[in-house]
Order: sequence, then structure tokens, then C-alpha cells
Amino acid sequence: MKIAKKGLPAHVAVIMDGNGRWARQRGLPRTVGHRQGMKRVKELVEAAAQAGIKVLTLFAFSTENWSRPKREISMLMNSLGAYLDRNLGELKKNDIRFRVIGRLEQLPGFLREKIENAQEKTKSNAGMVLVLAFNYGARQEITDAARDCARLVQTGSLSPEDIDEKKFRTHLYAADLPDVDLLIRTSGELRISNFLLWQLSYAELYFPKKYWPDFGSRDLSLALKEFQRRKRRFGGIDVDEKSD
Ligand code: IPE
Ligand code: IPE
Ligand code: MG
Repeated sequence: MKIAKKGLPAHVAVIMDGNGRWARQRGLPRTVGHRQGMKRVKELVEAAAQAGIKVLTLFAFSTENWSRPKREISMLMNSLGAYLDRNLGELKKNDIRFRVIGRLEQLPGFLREKIENAQEKTKSNAGMVLVLAFNYGARQEITDAARDCARLVQTGSLSPEDIDEKKFRTHLYAADLPDVDLLIRTSGELRISNFLLWQLSYAELYFPKKYWPDFGSRDLSLALKEFQRRKRRFGGIDVDEKSD
């Protein structure tokens, strides 16, 4: 499906939800759903880059997901490792810069190494930025930023009066990236689940019913088209509307 470049979102964020239900519906273990979901990641990354999206953020593991069974958690960790092993070459070839947001220090060493290696090997790439939110929680991100600011105040290098939105956001995990324009959450759930609370403030929200393993590049195109039809006002009035 061809998409006009005009009015495309610069930053698309996706809550990849529904792997477990996709598998259960077929009488399969949840882990099969996660495996299938990982295949979609590859397809969607390519489709987003081709469409001209500048930043694609994918929510793959939340700070709340630690409450899942141990087996499922380790499967999710392993599948990110396998994704990086398999796709690093492709990311490099497609000029994609890979980054992770979240508390990396709590991840197993083998995974941290793979993540650091992938970030390092793609850091000079100038095409799309692929951000993976892994062991990510928005409240933690905001709390971490607040703590950073407090430390600077304590050492005297920042005064409380100078903390405004612009300053505060420089302490977020990926401070240089723009706010989210379009949030997609698959599987029909209508919630944010502690994802990018700061960056989503003015995002357009899109909730397709499909489970993540069924969400293909055509579905991404439909989401982008829907975004192009939306009128964003940011608290003002339409640009083509006269004030009377
Ligand atoms: C999303 O699918 C993937 C992760 C949270 C890791 P789920 O595993 O949440 O699937 P459902 O919501 O149980 O169907
Ligand atoms: C959100 O999905 C996290 C990810 C997709 C990684 P969950 O399935 O964990 O969220 P809840 O529990 O339905 O809110
Ligand atoms: Mg879920």
C-alpha cells in the first residue's frame, strides 16, 4: 500500500500486545505467540523504515512483566537476544540505529552485552531510529529523571527555578528523540500500561483489534493513513478555521 509522505508521524510507538491470546486461541503455549510476534517485529521495522518513519519505538517488556512466570520471562529475554543475533546485519544494512530504553542494569549479563553491542555497531547509522522499550516503565523513567535533577540541585549545578519542561525532559532515557505522534496498541486493549507517559501527552491513539502476531505491514499502512486523516489541535483551533 502506497502512503503519501505528507503528514506522516515522525515518531510511532507500538504496544505489541496479544501474543498470549493469539497462541491460546490456537491451543498453543504462550511462548509460541511470542515467537510469532518476534517475526512481526522484523517485518514491521522494515515497513516503517520504508514508509519514512523517523523513530519507531516498540514496547517489548515492561517493568510489570516481571510478575509473569519465570519460564515466560526467560523466553522473552532469550527472544530479544535471538532477534539481535539474527537481525543486526540487516539493521546495519538498512542504516537503522538501534537503541534500548529501560533499566538495563536489571537484565541478565548476556542480554546486556548483546544490546550494548547492537547499540554500538549501529550508533552512526542515520536512517530510522529503532527504540526498544525493554524493562521499561514510564513512572520509573520520570522518577529517574526527577532523581537526576535532585542530585544536580544538591551539588549546586542546577537551581530549582531552572527546572522547566524543557530542562526536565533532557533527563528522560532518550532525551534527544521527539515526542510520540502516533501510538498503536494491538489486541483491542484500551490502556497505556505505563508506557511513555511523558512522551505520549499529545499522541494520536490507535487501537486495532488484531493481536500482535497478526499485525502486518498492511495494518501499519492503515494506521498511518488514519493518522493522516486526524486533525491535531494541540489545544488551539484548526489552522484553517477562522476565529470569530
Ligand atoms: C505482549 O503480548 C507481549 C508482552 C507483554 C511481552 P502478551 O504476552 O501480553 O499477550 P496477551 O496480552 O497475554 O494476549
Ligand atoms: C504491555 O502489555 C507491555 C508490553 C506490550 C510489553 P501487557 O500485556 O503487559 O499489559 P497489561 O498487563 O495488559 O496492562
Ligand atoms: Mg498483554
